[in-house]
Amino acid sequence: MKTIRPEDYRHILFFTGAGMSAESGVPTYRGAGGVWRSYRWEEYACQDAFDADPEKVLRFHELRRKSVLACQPHAGHEAVARLEGEHPQVTVVTQNIDGMHQRAGSRRVLELHGSLWRLRCPQHGIREDIGEAYRRYRCEDCGNWLRPDITWFGDMLDSFVMGQAAQAIRSCDLFVSIGTSGVVWPAAGFPQAARDGGARCIEINPEANEMSSLYHESIRGTAGEVLPGLFSS
Ligand code: APR
Repeated sequence: MKTIRPEDYRHILFFTGAGMSAESGVPTYRGAGGVWRSYRWEEYACQDAFDADPEKVLRFHELRRKSVLACQPHAGHEAVARLEGEHPQVTVVTQNIDGMHQRAGSRRVLELHGSLWRLRCPQHGIREDIGEAYRRYRCEDCGNWLRPDITWFGDMLDSFVMGQAAQAIRSCDLFVSIGTSGVVWPAAGFPQAARDGGARCIEINPEANEMSSLYHESIRGTAGEVLPGLFSS
């Protein structure tokens, strides 16, 4: 495999999806063993489901928190974090809610779909809550249900995060997509946007998908196998 010289690029952007965390043991959404194969998102991952039965939805997210806490970042996450320490401009734009990039040491991480580790009160805003179980299901100030701060099906993306991601995509000159099926919009449009902006676009995914033809190069391997050797130092 040819290596990339990071110094040839001004701004390197990693765009990651569930496949990035697969080798850590976090299930993907759509592949074999995917979350949406065992759970109907209509019952667990949309505002209507939360309004109908908030406890059921919160319990489902607690299960996910528990399974993610049992996993560790892998060599691919570490390679991404290391590069941030060695290169002037590295951004991670992730669809993942698991916080694995941050646990590996990445600092500039834009979480497009929110985080498993935050809850929000409709009146009192965001609170961080890290641990297997939520500290509380209801806001201590007003008694409202606390909702996972995650972009569920049918939700709008956070406009501030989306704006930052769009800016980063416009300005990057190397765009490395890892482990996403490219079916969930607007994130699915990012590779085309990066390409339109003049970036070299690389995909790391063991399987091709509808978006694969957009990339200048597709590396058919896993995140944990490919990333540690991708950049020459
Ligand atoms: N390394 C790299 N890629 C992998 C690996 C691996 N080890 N294992 C699986 N993949 C690839 C699969 O081939 C697939 O293309 O990861 C992709 C996972 O796709 P999805 O499960 O659809 O995950 P993602 O694209 O992140 O989903 C987008 O959908 O429901 C939502 O909000 C959720 O953020 C999620 C969004």
